[in-house]
Amino acid sequence: MTTKVAVVGATGKMGRLISGIVEESPEFDLVASLDSRSPLDDMLVADLVVDVTVPGVTQKVVEFAVANGKNVLIGTSGWSADRIAGLRRSLGEEPTAGIVVIPNFSLGSVLATSFAAMASRYFDSIEIIESHAATKVDSPSGTAVRTAELMGAARAALGPVAAPHTDQRARGQQVASIPIHSLRLNGVVAKQDVVFGGTGEVLTITHETISPSAYTAGIGVALTAAATARGVIVGLDQLIGLGGRPPQSGEDAGATAAADSARPTDPDPENVSGQAATATSVHP
Ligand SMILES: NC(=O)c1ccc[n+]([C@@H]2O[C@H](COP(=O)([O-])OP(=O)(O)OC[C@H]3O[C@@H](n4cnc5c(N)ncnc54)[C@H](OP(=O)(O)O)[C@@H]3O)[C@@H](O)[C@H]2O)c1
Repeated sequence: MTTKVAVVGATGKMGRLISGIVEESPEFDLVASLDSRSPLDDMLVADLVVDVTVPGVTQKVVEFAVANGKNVLIGTSGWSADRIAGLRRSLGEEPTAGIVVIPNFSLGSVLATSFAAMASRYFDSIEIIESHAATKVDSPSGTAVRTAELMGAARAALGPVAAPHTDQRARGQQVASIPIHSLRLNGVVAKQDVVFGGTGEVLTITHETISPSAYTAGIGVALTAAATARGVIVGLDQLIGLGGRPPQSGEDAGATAAADSARPTDPDPENVSGQAATATSVHP
């Protein structure tokens, strides 16, 4: 049986990419394409609603979809931990629908975030610099917020990072005590540097998206998980084994998606392209 999909934000860059993937997949049927002029009712013919709109609109779209019993895949930026807690409350204790929130569909990016969380316990001086196209309307990026939140959680027992003079505007916006600096530049797709200052050394974990094709494999994994999810799942890391245990051989995508945990089949790394990740340690 195919899953009927509505894409909200279908005329945008992400919406066009996701619509193409849905149309090419035998598992899915694209039944509605919504833009800023469409009534939200247009999504009601679908089982799964994909939201790739803008931060000021996404909450209204998702609340409407959830109120109508739809499963939802959110790719739009701006879903902080507080707003996601609201989603969990709206689904209740025994959810009959699922919401999958993916701040970044790129495999390289979630790996870089995972490496950053691992490193964060060994450094007290941590800052993030994220760069996106000048057309991106929100800041900091959803990926930067999630990276900071995961590092904050990983080093919870150590307390806040050492970030001096954060009362000055040029010192960035703090998330989980970690300053984030946002650059908006022509010519950039997406780049993030997590910089760790240590004693006599600096470690930088860099991920760069070179082309939107970097999102293709992650979108496929997320669509499959979102079709059957129950509860709220946050992050591609949760779907590819980085969130706890590695994916089991032959595990069916979405089969274990229950109450905040779904770990479908590993995406084929051969399908992931258009991105570069490096980790460099700079010694004086
Ligand atoms: N998760 C990830 O990996 C990832 C990657 C890249 C981007 N993003 C995020 O995804 C979102 C979309 O990015 P994009 O580059 O595709 O943006 P975009 O090209 O500007 O497209 C925005 C889309 O939202 C639609 N829209 C605007 N207001 C709306 C409303 N009131 N109701 C319904 N639709 C509305 C637009 O429709 P109109 O054409 O009618 O204006 C358009 O289709 C952003 O938040 C971006 O940061 C996420």
